[in-house]
Amino acid sequence: MLTTVAVSGASGKTGFRVAEELLKGPFNPRLLLQPSSVVPPSLSEVDQRRVRLSDPVGLEASLQGVDALVIATGARPSVDLSGPMRVDAWGVQRQITACQRVGVSRVVLVSSLCAGRLRHPLNFFGLILLWKRVGERALERSGLDWTVIRPGGLSEREEGLETEGVVWTGPDQQDSASIPRRLVARCCVEALETPESIGRILEVTSSAQQPPGALQERLTGIE
Ligand SMILES: NC(=O)c1ccc[n+]([C@@H]2O[C@H](COP(=O)([O-])OP(=O)(O)OC[C@H]3O[C@@H](n4cnc5c(N)ncnc54)[C@H](OP(=O)(O)O)[C@@H]3O)[C@@H](O)[C@H]2O)c1
Repeated sequence: MLTTVAVSGASGKTGFRVAEELLKGPFNPRLLLQPSSVVPPSLSEVDQRRVRLSDPVGLEASLQGVDALVIATGARPSVDLSGPMRVDAWGVQRQITACQRVGVSRVVLVSSLCAGRLRHPLNFFGLILLWKRVGERALERSGLDWTVIRPGGLSEREEGLETEGVVWTGPDQQDSASIPRRLVARCCVEALETPESIGRILEVTSSAQQPPGALQERLTGIE
């Protein structure tokens, strides 16, 4: 039973929703935040740990007693094009190393559709899709119980989600379409609750034409 679930990047627009969704279930979220990060009022009472990804000792301390980690960090758009390398590759690697050292065996990583693709306009921001794949590969090779969630273009829409289904596929099968961050957050929690998602890269977009359904059913037939 996964009880204490850390969420890194919990001040981000996907990360805070992951923490909110965890609070709806039998989970005890712990927010991993940069010293300057700001979280919404809905999370003000939740356990918060302030740590830099560049601080391995601090990272390990922040993960003590944790059963699983959801990595929702991501380089913010910036003129500093080294962000994707620092955050999406090395920052993910450091979180994985800390999990290995502390004994956190379950990790869900929020990556991106088209991770690993060279010819893509998103790469004008610091080759982000290549660095995201480096982060994914580090997790795949970690020996941990991992799941990679690759969402399409993210939106902040909160309306109409109860009737909107998630289109789940295996890797490199979707290259466009979008998904609200709230649904991505639910996908992360559902992956944690679904052992069959371990060792899988799962691409997620959403559509009003897709009937809602459980991940466990959807995994049958996904390559
Ligand atoms: N935007 C899209 O359409 C899209 C599509 C597919 C996938 N994605 C990926 O999905 C994930 C979530 O995206 P989002 O737009 O919801 O996130 P976001 O709002 O941009 O939040 C990013 C989070 O990462 C944290 N972060 C950034 N740099 C950091 C660092 N050096 N050390 C520690 N934490 C750091 C931020 O902390 P602060 O609050 O302190 O800055 C924030 O909590 C990201 O990995 C993103 O690349 C995005």
